[in-house]
Amino acid sequence: MIPHPAATPDRGHRVCVIGAGYVGLTAAACLAHLGHEVVCVESDPRRLATLERGGIPIVEPGLDEMVAAVTANGHLTFAARAEGGVPGAEVALLCVGTPPRPDGDPDLTYIAQAAREVSQAATGDLVVVVKSTVPPGSCEAIELICQEAARPGIRIRVASSPEFLRESRAVEDFLHPDRVVVGAADDDVADLVAALYPPGVPVVRCDRRGAELVKYAANAFLAVKISFANEVAALCEHLGTEASTVLQGVGLDHRIGSDFLRPGPGYGGSCLPKDVSGFRALGRAMDSPTHVVAAAERVNSEARSAIVEKLAKATGGVRGLTVAVLGMSFKEGTDDTRDSPGLGLIDILTTSGATVKAYDPLAKVDGLTVERSASAMEAVRDADAVVVATSWREFAELDPGKVAEAMSGDVVIDSVGALDLEKCAGAGLVVYGVGRGTPVSFHPVVWPPLRWAHSPRDHTGSDGTAPDTGSSADRETVAGEDGARAGAEHGGGVAPSRHGLRACC
Ligand SMILES: NC(=O)c1ccc[n+]([C@@H]2O[C@H](COP(=O)([O-])OP(=O)(O)OC[C@H]3O[C@@H](n4cnc5c(N)ncnc54)[C@H](O)[C@@H]3O)[C@@H](O)[C@H]2O)c1
Repeated sequence: MIPHPAATPDRGHRVCVIGAGYVGLTAAACLAHLGHEVVCVESDPRRLATLERGGIPIVEPGLDEMVAAVTANGHLTFAARAEGGVPGAEVALLCVGTPPRPDGDPDLTYIAQAAREVSQAATGDLVVVVKSTVPPGSCEAIELICQEAARPGIRIRVASSPEFLRESRAVEDFLHPDRVVVGAADDDVADLVAALYPPGVPVVRCDRRGAELVKYAANAFLAVKISFANEVAALCEHLGTEASTVLQGVGLDHRIGSDFLRPGPGYGGSCLPKDVSGFRALGRAMDSPTHVVAAAERVNSEARSAIVEKLAKATGGVRGLTVAVLGMSFKEGTDDTRDSPGLGLIDILTTSGATVKAYDPLAKVDGLTVERSASAMEAVRDADAVVVATSWREFAELDPGKVAEAMSGDVVIDSVGALDLEKCAGAGLVVYGVGRGTPVSFHPVVWPPLRWAHSPRDHTGSDGTAPDTGSSADRETVAGEDGARAGAEHGGGVAPSRHGLRACC
């Protein structure tokens, strides 16, 4: 762990943070740790009560200790309303939710309300910083709301400084960000906002619309990387090669980077799906095409059903199966289940007629309609199949022998690449990954003048049929030794398991 920048009380500003969620509470605690005087306003009485009791309402490594330290030294206090934190503050950070509306546009009700509340509570000039993710142009509109709500003679200026932290790494990311983005109309405002952050961090200064777009564009690009990884993984399955190695080879090019280049059940969480649809809504509003991001969104929308199809292929159909779903948080290390792949998979499985037993070490799910198990081993007991949906370390550490013994079936779909295939296979489990293992169908396509090793008379498809020459007359599909072997072993992708079928990829 990189040491956190030391607190520097001499550089402190008086800051009011609105919202004590993942972004707001992290920002409040970290700013207090950096020496600022912070009041964090939370309107949800249950969350506020937890904070006032000395707890924190979210799971975020290191945040509880930091909150305890800065509340003990008096740098951080909590309030129920803006009046409890805004008077006397130089800066108010808006960190409230901007969830998607059903049409995909962001719901800006909470941010508008928070802007109104801080402006009404201001007793002196104030800089309002929008840290919530909002579409470009919002800060200018929010400034109008603030000016209308403020008392006469009080000047409120609005800046944009989007947040890039990752849940489960929030404290680290806030204190050691790759960069800080500050969008402001005035230099003195930009200077004040930049001075809030840890010293020595690269600061990108721009206008407000630019800063707002940086956040949307960054998340849209991350979504493209994930969907691209899933496309490469699908090709790897056909070729019988390992997606993780191929993507490692791609990602180690520093122009590309390995982060987010991982295949799986697609992106989820509170940010990427919403910001992708927000980016597309922006494109529509500006009449500016967003084809690349639209394609990433389409690929992602198919990723979860592709996992269930894999399970159906492996078992002969999911109707009537008892399936253990391991992982309901949208990724490991967090309790956040917003748009989580695990919950998405549970929905598809139950709709398809499976009975689901679900387990997650941390996630609390209100209104879960399936049985919740107390442990991973309890979930897999008597299950016909297992789907790993979140790469919690404890799933990788399960003893495959005990899992195989406890299950009534043998099929495991490891959608997040958490498991050791060899160990699982050794225990008799039949594990299907995403972009892993031996090929489902191997149809090597050779473009003339190259030729597959065998004479053209040997040409057969891997399923034993005549070669599919594809749509181009110049291409030929030829099965070589590996292809023929794959076809013979797996019968074109399916071979017997305990359920009458066997694993392929
Ligand atoms: N969660 C992330 O990883 C992350 C990362 C970067 C950016 N963001 C963006 O930051 C924003 C906040 O996200 P979050 O995940 O922290 O949301 P969240 O839902 O966890 O927290 C928002 C908090 O604000 C409180 N709140 C709402 N209106 C309020 C008001 N008027 N006064 C006081 N409190 C109020 C809510 O009760 C809630 O506790 C969103 O725009 C999100 O897109 C989130």
